[in-house]
Amino acid sequence: MIKPLVTLVGLLHKSKISEQVRYASQALPQLSSEKYNIKRKDFGTIKSSDVSYFKSILNEGRVLTDENDVMPYNIDWIKNCRGQSTVVLKPQNTAEVSAILKYCNEKRLAVCPQGGNTGLVGGSVPVFDEIVLNFSLMNKIESLDDVSGALICEAGCILENLDNYVRERGLIMPLDLGAKGSCHIGGNASTNAGGLRLLRYGNLHGSILGIEAVKADGTVIDCLKALKKDNTGYHLKHLFIGSEGTLGFVTKVAVSCPVLPKAVNLGFFGVENFENILKLYKSAKSSLGEILSAFEMADFDSINSTVQNLKLPNPIADYPFYVLVETHGSDDVHDGEKLSRFLSKEMESGLIVDGTVTSEPSKMQTIWNLRESIAGAGLVVGYVFKYDVSIPLKNYYDLVPILRKKVGDKALIVCGYGHVGDGNIHINVTVPKYSQEIASVLEPYIFEEVSKLNGSISAEHGIGFRKPKYIHYSKDKSALQLMKDLKQLMDPNGILNPYKVLPDTV
Ligand code: FAD
Ligand code: MLT
Ligand code: ZN
Repeated sequence: MIKPLVTLVGLLHKSKISEQVRYASQALPQLSSEKYNIKRKDFGTIKSSDVSYFKSILNEGRVLTDENDVMPYNIDWIKNCRGQSTVVLKPQNTAEVSAILKYCNEKRLAVCPQGGNTGLVGGSVPVFDEIVLNFSLMNKIESLDDVSGALICEAGCILENLDNYVRERGLIMPLDLGAKGSCHIGGNASTNAGGLRLLRYGNLHGSILGIEAVKADGTVIDCLKALKKDNTGYHLKHLFIGSEGTLGFVTKVAVSCPVLPKAVNLGFFGVENFENILKLYKSAKSSLGEILSAFEMADFDSINSTVQNLKLPNPIADYPFYVLVETHGSDDVHDGEKLSRFLSKEMESGLIVDGTVTSEPSKMQTIWNLRESIAGAGLVVGYVFKYDVSIPLKNYYDLVPILRKKVGDKALIVCGYGHVGDGNIHINVTVPKYSQEIASVLEPYIFEEVSKLNGSISAEHGIGFRKPKYIHYSKDKSALQLMKDLKQLMDPNGILNPYKVLPDTV
């Protein structure tokens, strides 16, 4: 039976959850260079004359050098990585980014670009003393064409702020993720972020119409056209989408914003086994067709981690698996009928055991909170080994029980959840604290298995600092060589986000 949604109290707003989790434990992570035994590359070291130069172009307040001020910029969101930077720069416009990079390139000073610092692979924080170039003050919206839906803005705009802005004008951002209260659109572009509605609105290689970026030598590359079609030679913007700040720093983006849906519905269902999730997905695609906007899954341990650790209420009973089905459409009656028909059919077939549907914004938010908070729920009780892989759907959940068995009672939680519609599962292994012993049980095992299945070892979070040595499990030698050649061409001194993405040897 479909239950009405119970009233839920005491919920924190999404972005507040991120903050709460982030500061839950004050313990400092070990230095990345020690933890992962990395050698500093032969870059220049920062002198007081360099700091004076930065102050001359940015002014005093936008050059941070105090240890306490700099500390948060050295630590990543999951508290796995810690760099040793002593300088954070906060440019306010493209010309300043260009001047900083030109200077750093001449002096061979390494630079780590940082957006909202919500990245999950350690790409956004330095490893040694790289200068942090933080984009938070580049947060201006330049224009919005409400007919075409083209938005042009600076890289440091927070995704949620952009979404609020375009919503007031009848549009939405084409991506949505649990980190939207902190992540920047420049960070999203640089990671080619996926998120909760990629199934419907596609990935950023499609939605980003144009990019302005700065190369290592300070050259500004203007590919900021807001056109849907532009076949004038090489599609250079794509070099910056997903390259995680290793080929250039994104300073502005032009994004194609879809129309704000008039009718939104969300279902949250209990399902008996993973096989039934796949059947349900197939049925949802055919029954809901063009209005299907998200199809997400989470296993019991995922949802239970948010209930236990973050005290979020689960509106339905305990089930082995949960599914979120969302629709975005233009006609309330039509969409409601479609969803009801789908529900009745699948409750009768037994694919859906129990659940709830709602179109009330606050109730939908409550359900989404439950799903989006899984990312941080383990951090409250320990250290989280995070995996983000693409696997053919028939094998989507296979690795979770295998890993559960492998780590046994050394783990507090082993859970699987993710974007079924994209073939992308996240596997979190939460342990009381980081241990090399557990790390070596999990890695490279998980990557080997994904490779055997022809999957990707990083579906949406990127390679960052954590995965360059595993990239070969998903990228052929010849492709890796081309990546190296491109890096050499665009950043010959290797100053842009070193120790990230590219492996030392091909
Ligand atoms: P940062 O973390 O600051 O940086 C990410 C990478 O991009 C780093 O390598 C950094 O050096 C580089 N970078 C940042 N800004 C620039 C720039 N302007 N120019 C060049 N390089 C730059 N990711 C998903 O794909 N899908 C999800 O559903 C998702 N959900 C998440 C939920 C939570 C709760 C959290 C904490 C993270 C989630 N993420 C998700 C990961 C993360 O939010 C995304 O990767 C996001 O796009 C990062 O944006 P950011 O501004 O925080 O970038
Ligand atoms: C998600 O889908 O929730 C994010 O990608 C973050 C995570 O992997 O936990
Ligand atoms: Zn995800």
